[in-house]
Amino acid sequence: MADKNSFIGVFDSGVGGLGVLNTLLKILPDESYLYVADSAHFPYGTKSAEQIRNYSEKIVRFLLKKNAKAIVVACNTVSSVALPYLREISGDIPIFGMVQSGAKIALKTTNNLRIGVVSTPLTAKMHAYKNEIMSLNESAEVFEVGSQELVNLVEDGNAHKKKAYLLAKNKLSGVLSKKIDTLVLGCTHFPFLYKVVKKVVGSEVKVVDPAAEVGKELTQFLMENNLTSDTKERGRIFLTTGDTKNFFDKAKLFLSISVKDVEHIDL
Ligand code: DGL
Repeated sequence: MADKNSFIGVFDSGVGGLGVLNTLLKILPDESYLYVADSAHFPYGTKSAEQIRNYSEKIVRFLLKKNAKAIVVACNTVSSVALPYLREISGDIPIFGMVQSGAKIALKTTNNLRIGVVSTPLTAKMHAYKNEIMSLNESAEVFEVGSQELVNLVEDGNAHKKKAYLLAKNKLSGVLSKKIDTLVLGCTHFPFLYKVVKKVVGSEVKVVDPAAEVGKELTQFLMENNLTSDTKERGRIFLTTGDTKNFFDKAKLFLSISVKDVEHIDL
């Protein structure tokens, strides 16, 4: 049985998931969080589905061993290729994925059922969003584009530079030509490009981030299962499989709270 005062585990291949954590901290500020950045294996977006399953299984087993009460896969690529597999491992401890929530919010947002998705190449190749959206509404038309360069640009702290705008414009031209009215930011790194993307797509296209929907579902789960924290202690633990100083410096840019300490883990 999960302990209500235990933490929520959140993980990503790098700093992108810190955006999801920002949203969770806003929606559920009184919870404790343990964030794992698998920076040693970044990027996930160009790896094989099998590699991603291996990496994410290790992280999930680690979080379960630490007694997580819930796990948020703050990575669309993992959500695309490994979610059912990870859920088998986690048993009673729920795992929340980005693609599943992103598909729901896209369908709530669109009026013309023409939806674009920008993601990593692997998420696009797996048609994760297309499959998920069409399983909810088979009349929807989904147009996907993958770009690892956009992910790397964010990971390297260059989201605000002019080259980000030029690259986004180039990558999104194909989906924009399909008359979409909704664009899903199908990679956790991309909300950090929100302003750039908004400038490219214009006022006619709504840009959606799955994170808020994940937060809503998590809140509902905690309430329904009497698992909302009732202690004053708010743990914020940050672990990386990569270089701690590098993660610490990036967290200053990406996270809404200050990080005191980052520890290294080998998984
Ligand atoms: N942030 C991850 C995602 O949402 C993957 C980025 C990467 O490691 O390529 O897909």
